[in-house]
Amino acid sequence: MAGNKWSLGSEVKHATLPGGAMLYDGSRLGNLAPSWFDPNHWRARGEIEGTARGRGSAHYIKSAGRQFVLRHYHRGGLVAYLSRDKYFWRGEQETRPFAEWQLTYRLHRAGLPVPAPLAARYQHDGMTYTGDIITERLNTVGSLAECLAQGALSILTWIEIGRCIRRFHDLGVCHADLNAHNLLLNEDAKVYLIDFDQCQLRRSGLWRDGNLVRLRRSLEKITYALPRDRFGEADWHGLLDGYRQTSGDQSLVAGT
Ligand SMILES: Nc1ncnc2c1ncn2[C@@H]1O[C@H](COP(=O)(O)OP(=O)(O)O)[C@@H](O)[C@H]1O
Ligand SMILES: [Mg+2]
Repeated sequence: MAGNKWSLGSEVKHATLPGGAMLYDGSRLGNLAPSWFDPNHWRARGEIEGTARGRGSAHYIKSAGRQFVLRHYHRGGLVAYLSRDKYFWRGEQETRPFAEWQLTYRLHRAGLPVPAPLAARYQHDGMTYTGDIITERLNTVGSLAECLAQGALSILTWIEIGRCIRRFHDLGVCHADLNAHNLLLNEDAKVYLIDFDQCQLRRSGLWRDGNLVRLRRSLEKITYALPRDRFGEADWHGLLDGYRQTSGDQSLVAGT
């Protein structure tokens, strides 16, 4: 994604803040204030509906009839010399929130099943920065991991999951963490993909198989202690059958 990244569309707004900046979709958020990135702001108003477990903490917020997810960037694992939410500053365009926001925005605009990205912010201090992102909350029954904990899925759902992944791959989206927590299902077995932190647009290559292998390992891990009907070879083959159907989507990678 080279070139001027603000040329995403006229509704994409950039605002400088003391010690940082925010990026947002002006057509969806007219009244965005920096306090929106602070969970305490919503807590004080009693508008936090819950939290999701992940690397960091994602807060589900409901305000004025709208539902969204506020996520603070946190790294997994331990980094001895940095606190867990600080990243090395390498310029605004390299920040996690701006990179993820912009990629998600392009995917959403291309009609892919992703949450609408609402806003992103970084706060820069010396050599480090912290970041936050707000996305529209998807109306789902849960992640693939949560659904498998509840019961077995139909083979049609596995096919749908494969089709969904294929659409992203046809656009050149290499997902950095394709696992059962980042695929969400709604009531009609529609499949969404989330969490584009550190994802890249790439030309077709072996990374596609790498993504699938990662998902397979995740499925094996989360279903290991569950009843045997939750994940087996037939399910995986259903997913691959869906994956092998061409999506007809055009790559976002220039020159392919
Ligand atoms: N837009 C969304 N709609 C519904 N749930 C979401 C949304 N974004 C995140 N979540 C929930 O929050 C969890 C963590 O978010 P995610 O973007 O995967 O960040 P990370 O894995 O880095 O913590 C997800 O697994 C999912 O359950
Ligand atoms: Mg995740």
